[in-house]
Amino acid sequence: MSSELSPIDKAKFVAAKKAVEFIEDGMRVGLGTGSTAAWMVRCLGERVREEGLRIRGVPTSTRTAELAKQVGIDVVSLDAAKWLDLTIDGADEFDADLNLIKGGGGALLQEKIVATASDQMIVISDVSKEVEKLGAFPLPVEVIPFGWQTTQALIEETLVSLDVLGRSASLRMNGDSPYVTDEGNHILDLHLKRIGDARQMAMVLNQMPGVVENGLFIDICDRVVIGYGDGRVEVRDINAGTIEENMVDFVESENLFSDLND
Ligand code: 5RP
Repeated sequence: MSSELSPIDKAKFVAAKKAVEFIEDGMRVGLGTGSTAAWMVRCLGERVREEGLRIRGVPTSTRTAELAKQVGIDVVSLDAAKWLDLTIDGADEFDADLNLIKGGGGALLQEKIVATASDQMIVISDVSKEVEKLGAFPLPVEVIPFGWQTTQALIEETLVSLDVLGRSASLRMNGDSPYVTDEGNHILDLHLKRIGDARQMAMVLNQMPGVVENGLFIDICDRVVIGYGDGRVEVRDINAGTIEENMVDFVESENLFSDLND
């Protein structure tokens, strides 16, 4: 039942529900990772089952692939799809230019490849992820396991010359072991507090040996759909410069919430 969802889950759900309205028959769609993206996958599955929408979905993680198959979405690889019409994904932070920090869920590499191979990217979020300056959320950086401590030291040394407020990095853990991504890599979380120049930071990080990819998504996102716990959604389009507000009805989707309790 929707009444049992927390306000934050309601906000994530309405953002997801609104965003799947942008998906049209025949589209190839990138499917993001995380709790907000999981709502989007469920809402899209509902459209596939109820409207007979024919789409192909390219998941950005093994978790999303499993969920997408469960809800009836035709899952294909990025190489099979070649190019995508639209990617919908969550984010950890977004700013006024729709630049993002992503990777809190550890899937930033596939997420960036998939979003970059898409005509459009829509981010779905609750309002708490909006920031004036990126960087309060620790910036995830995917590094290869070989020599990761040396890579960490190199990153920390380089941060001294960049416009940031914090300069420490920590290895992401999964219990007692280092977290391992779908590609078999590790993640260093950079505690920067505030990133003065996100574009420069993204370029500098990706030039370091040992770094596979960083969680800054610069000039990739086209729209953000921001959800609120009372059902309101705001759609901001950075290219058109428009902001639209709508309401999303929870009642229509009660079956999605009851499925969660099965
Ligand atoms: C995963 C991500 C997620 O999109 C991000 O962490 C947001 O997650 P959630 O929707 O659970 O708050 O980048 O790598």
